[in-house]
Amino acid sequence: MKVLQDEIRNLEVDKVLDIGTGAGDFIKILKGGFKKFNHIIGVDSSKKALEMGRENIQDDRIEFRYMSGDRLEFDDSEFDVVSVSNSMHHFKDHSKVFEEVKRVLKPDGMVIVNEMFCDNQSKSQLSHVYLHHYMAEIDTIMGIVHRPTYKKQEIIDLLEDEGLKIIRIFEVKDEVFKNVEEEKKEIEALKKLFDKRLKDIEEHERYDEFVGRAKDIREHLDKYGIAGATQLVIIASK
Ligand SMILES: C[S@@+](CC[C@H](N)C(=O)[O-])C[C@H]1O[C@@H](n2cnc3c(N)ncnc32)[C@H](O)[C@@H]1O
Repeated sequence: MKVLQDEIRNLEVDKVLDIGTGAGDFIKILKGGFKKFNHIIGVDSSKKALEMGRENIQDDRIEFRYMSGDRLEFDDSEFDVVSVSNSMHHFKDHSKVFEEVKRVLKPDGMVIVNEMFCDNQSKSQLSHVYLHHYMAEIDTIMGIVHRPTYKKQEIIDLLEDEGLKIIRIFEVKDEVFKNVEEEKKEIEALKKLFDKRLKDIEEHERYDEFVGRAKDIREHLDKYGIAGATQLVIIASK
């Protein structure tokens, strides 16, 4: 995410909010980018994810709070920057979240959205996309909100429909694996993940369909390997 860090390198900000922060991985990127910040708050609707975040980052200026993005417990115009990274496709109602984003953002504040997309990906990146869609569908069967990832233009349209003004767009393709051995190890771990997730839906009527799809994705993994899907980073204002 060097391109994003370079974009925010000269900014001195007071308060930053990261919605759907998970284990805080995007906070790490923001922290490495801003020239100066006083306070970053990461919120998430999963207590488990927040625990991981607190373990992951120990910094007096960074706080993790249990809160849903569609009901933020903050005042109007409280934040200089609000970010949403790879969470949009997890929101039950993204319109409500973006209403809240605009409410808590200062009038001249910055919105940063980072979201992986599913189109225009290489064969090895498609392994990531297929795997993600597969897991998202199993989550959906289990009652967890998890959509397939959007197409690039869908993300742009969605943010514009929410009334955000897009300032800049980057495509970021981070190298995930250092070498072939590391990639092979990851592929083996991912293949095992299929069995674990299939157990989650053992009794479901679509179980056999998912067994077949797991086989197809395993074959795709063997043939093309895996690389992280390209992500869209959008800088916007309200
Ligand atoms: C794939 S993770 C993204 C984590 C992190 N932002 C990143 O980029 O690595 C998506 C996160 O969104 C959270 N989430 C889903 N709906 C939410 C909501 N309404 N409010 C806050 N967090 C939410 C999930 O609990 C999950 O931790």
